[in-house]
Amino acid sequence: MVEAFAPGKCILFGEHAVVYGHPAVALAIDQGVRVSLKKSEEWRIGGEKFDPFKHPHISHILHKIFYYNGEPLDIKIESQLFPAAGLGSSAALSNAIGAALHKMMKPNEKLDIVKLAKIGHSAEAAAQEGRASPTDTATSALGGCVVVSGEPVKGTEHIFNTELVTPEGKRSWSIYKSILPEKTDGIWLILGFTGESSPTGKMVAGVANLLSQVPSKKDEMEAINEITLKGLDALSKGNFEAVGLAMDECHEHLQNLNVSSDSLDRLVEAVRPYSLGAKMTGAGGGGCIVAISRNPQRVSEQIEIAGGIPMISKIGTKGVKII
Ligand code: PMV
Repeated sequence: MVEAFAPGKCILFGEHAVVYGHPAVALAIDQGVRVSLKKSEEWRIGGEKFDPFKHPHISHILHKIFYYNGEPLDIKIESQLFPAAGLGSSAALSNAIGAALHKMMKPNEKLDIVKLAKIGHSAEAAAQEGRASPTDTATSALGGCVVVSGEPVKGTEHIFNTELVTPEGKRSWSIYKSILPEKTDGIWLILGFTGESSPTGKMVAGVANLLSQVPSKKDEMEAINEITLKGLDALSKGNFEAVGLAMDECHEHLQNLNVSSDSLDRLVEAVRPYSLGAKMTGAGGGGCIVAISRNPQRVSEQIEIAGGIPMISKIGTKGVKII
């Protein structure tokens, strides 16, 4: 049997602006997806018969990437991530499957995480009609703090470039890593799930529509870009007070782009008194908020009182691993 674990992610700064070429900053979180593969008499997944149409990510990786034609596999998946909530659960699944298959088929070859991130990205695209940003798969593969940007970002290390042919034409991205401070000073990341799913495609289309009808909203994108760079600089220096302020500011601009929701705003308001900063994370319209705080238990309680589901993570979890 082979096993692998890949973490989920949250976007700390830059969601939506990244669609327009600005940088986005994502952090890997402690929670993720664990996959185990065992040779078996018949193809099974989660105790049931494996239906490739229900699992396009897995079929893509098995047959289009690894050209697997060995014995049938019994695939077990344990996810700690809320699905369709902006935490990168499908990317973590793709990466964990990719890593486990690598171990099974090439046991003596070191896992190349950049290659794995690209495989995960191609699986996401195959399952999403050719549209997928590499943010989730890159963050889950590399771990720590990942920056996705159309242009170089000061203080980061360039890791790889990637591109995808989408129905709208070819798109390309550069992936960078930012060094996190060694001491995180008792600071924790707290996610709060609204219980509603986060429809990425619909929210991205809504922003495009808003920008075409109200061109002055482009200023919001510029503002998010500046906040992202300021927030990233503060994060790399371990100035968490400034990171929190940047998160609060970022949330306001996302509200101005109409991507927040009543339930996201309610969770953000509930945690603010006990946090250094809080904002919605990901596409919005549902999904999660993210807060940073020295008092994660109190923030979690506030999330529960306001009707959400909390999850606590440290800042700077490692990327995908074979167990
Ligand atoms: O909720 P998520 O993790 O799917 O966030 C999407 C982030 C966007 O910037 C809104 C879209 C994208 O492709 O980057």
